[in-house]
Amino acid sequence: MSASDRPARISDPADLIIRQFEPQDLPQVMDLDREVFGGYSPQIFTTFYEYHPRTILVAESSGRLAGFILGFKHTPLEGRVFWLAVRSTYQGRGVGRRLMLSLLKIFRQLGAVSSTLEVRISNRKAQALYTSLGFEPEGVCPGYYSDGEAALIMRRRL
Ligand SMILES: CC(C)(COP(=O)(O)OP(=O)(O)OC[C@H]1O[C@@H](n2cnc3c(N)ncnc32)[C@H](O)[C@@H]1OP(=O)(O)O)[C@@H](O)C(=O)NCCC(=O)NCCS
Repeated sequence: MSASDRPARISDPADLIIRQFEPQDLPQVMDLDREVFGGYSPQIFTTFYEYHPRTILVAESSGRLAGFILGFKHTPLEGRVFWLAVRSTYQGRGVGRRLMLSLLKIFRQLGAVSSTLEVRISNRKAQALYTSLGFEPEGVCPGYYSDGEAALIMRRRL
């Protein structure tokens, strides 16, 4: 799909709010996760929230959860993006970009000077987003995912 074929971005800030995750978001986050990734355990989110509450963000549009992003300070100087998902009906409308930019801003506020992430080698769409945000390939990790697929490691300075 080319950029011109995609639906319009949600450009009105009143339409799309990026905010920190709150425990009451969990049912909607799990629902979105089931839709996009196939369903991880809710415990992953609650444990992540316990340790990294500042770096889990959600995107909300008209009271509905449109996407979420999980990250953490991997080292004192590096923020790691762990998980990004946008509900299929909201994909291609700028939600992933807004979530990522908000998380990178928080990493900077927390003192990080660079950010890393890993992405499936086949996930061209996510790679296009990350490249457009200044991430550059740093290496390949063979067999990284449970189904044996390799991960592309990407990094950008903050
Ligand atoms: C990958 C994903 C997070 C991107 O979020 P999104 O909200 O759809 O992306 P955005 O609308 O913010 O698009 C930002 C950029 O991504 C790329 N992109 C988005 N949709 C694309 C598509 N259909 N084809 C190719 N590139 C695309 C483009 O670079 C785009 O920038 P542009 O609009 O200026 O051309 C989202 O599609 C998703 O949740 N996919 C399934 C889960 C997933 O793959 N997560 C990432 C795991 S690492």
